[in-house]
Amino acid sequence: MILQHLAIIMDGNGRWASAKGKNRTFGHRQGAKVVREITQYCAGQHIKYLTLYAFSTENWLRPKQEVEFLMKLLEHYLQSELEVYQRNNIRFVVIGDIEGLSKKLQKLIRAMQDATAHNTGLTQFLALNYGAKNEIARSVLSLYDRGVFEQAKSLKREQSIDYVIKNIENTLDTREVSAVDLLIRTGGEMRLSNFLLWQCAYAELFFTPTLWPDFGTKELEGILQRFAQRNRRFGGL
Ligand code: IPE
Ligand code: IPE
Ligand code: MG
Repeated sequence: MILQHLAIIMDGNGRWASAKGKNRTFGHRQGAKVVREITQYCAGQHIKYLTLYAFSTENWLRPKQEVEFLMKLLEHYLQSELEVYQRNNIRFVVIGDIEGLSKKLQKLIRAMQDATAHNTGLTQFLALNYGAKNEIARSVLSLYDRGVFEQAKSLKREQSIDYVIKNIENTLDTREVSAVDLLIRTGGEMRLSNFLLWQCAYAELFFTPTLWPDFGTKELEGILQRFAQRNRRFGGL
């Protein structure tokens, strides 16, 4: 079965560190290492798109110290990972409400996106300040600006709905691929936490109790094998 778009909710960093009697930040640091490992593995597996949930629009609710640490960790990641992306032919793209991030982060994001724009292997979407409701609302606003609703109203009802759906899909942050084939969440929680709500309409869902810092290519390989055995019907028979 074709796996074009894999998405992962990387959860459990804090609990992993707490269980070791360490500060939550220790878990985030370890988590960043797993990001590198999993990204390289996916590039090697010829997966086309890998979307990783790194910071949600709701994560600003965390204590200031933790948020600041995560932003610093992101800066560090963007400053140190370029070589890995180039060596593995990976294109880096950030999805989410980028304007809500610091100017410094925005600059680093642009630099890494520009530097990897011509890579032709895996595309990694890193979800930063990402929330699906925010993404859909931004998409609707841009449709409004472009007069899409006026156009839609001049069509027959069914056509107008299809027209709006197509236009939403074409303006989502993930527009070049749209649907998620497989969604994995680590850390044991069984919820989507405002991640890719539209794109996961027909995604196969896998939840694992493994905390993100303990997740690895072996477990991912097992999930990919189980995914291949799923019968995807998309409402048909
Ligand atoms: C996921 O791990 C990373 C981010 C949300 C940034 P958590 O920080 O949510 O770790 P837990 O779920 O509290 O263990
Ligand atoms: C989801 O994890 C967000 C990311 C992995 C970036 P959270 O830890 O924020 O989710 P909740 O709060 O448990 O739903
Ligand atoms: Mg969590």
